[in-house]
Amino acid sequence: MLISLSEALSYAETHGGGLAAVNTPFFEALLATIDVGERAGVPIVLAFAQSHEKYVSIEEIGPAMVALASRSEAPFVVHVDHGEDIEYIRTGLDIGFTSAMIDGSLRPYEENVALTRAVVEMAHERGADVEGEIGAMSGNENGDPSQGIADETLYTRPQEAADFVARTGVDCLAASFGTVHGLYRREPRLDYELIEQLRRAAGVPLVMHGGSGLKPQEYRACIDRGVRKINYYTYAAKAALDAARDALEGEDTYVFSDVAVRARQGVREDVGRFVQALAPRAGAL
Ligand code: 13P
Repeated sequence: MLISLSEALSYAETHGGGLAAVNTPFFEALLATIDVGERAGVPIVLAFAQSHEKYVSIEEIGPAMVALASRSEAPFVVHVDHGEDIEYIRTGLDIGFTSAMIDGSLRPYEENVALTRAVVEMAHERGADVEGEIGAMSGNENGDPSQGIADETLYTRPQEAADFVARTGVDCLAASFGTVHGLYRREPRLDYELIEQLRRAAGVPLVMHGGSGLKPQEYRACIDRGVRKINYYTYAAKAALDAARDALEGEDTYVFSDVAVRARQGVREDVGRFVQALAPRAGAL
């Protein structure tokens, strides 16, 4: 079933867990993430990032995401990730997505505020929730060795977080406190004190981007300090590739479908572990 981002966030908040948000820009990742949600019995976010248009368009995979989520008995949010402009987010909502992130973080601050405010007005009118971002997560999703290290000068400042939320009306806030997208070049060092300050200042749930590559205890420490949604992509897509490589070596693999099935299994195992790591504390239910 389709649920709103606010409902999923408050489920996670009430139960002391983290909400897993998984990018599914290929069909095997989508099917595998749905499998995990159905087994886990907790809400999961199926996300599609605008930057993944190079793999598949939102018009192609978006309707499948919405249809599979709607017909499932498990609760799913279908979310536009890193939307870069209001038109793209409108397209996602037209397809049936239930929430969206507008990422104006690389624009000048006042421009980010104005764009995010406009998206919030448009989306709220349609019953959809909005995530905004200030501060930036450097890094990328292609393993570029020149990236993969958090840049402290881009960390989110608490006072700015408070101003941004008050002026835009976002439902949750992506903030920068030590994670980066893609593969880490160095052990990530998360600023836990900053997370606490940001949560207090923002007054809305925090979102962590760059969820790949952290240890279960690091997820837990962030969740305990106010991070509620954790975005995840690179390791899941890598798990698909690793499983596909194994399948390619198998003597009885002679059609692509055999590779695709193994890729789905790879994602299922990897995302299963991720969702488990964010689960509410034992006894919280
Ligand atoms: P990773 O690629 O590090 O898993 O991060 C994904 C993400 O933050 C998508 O918004």
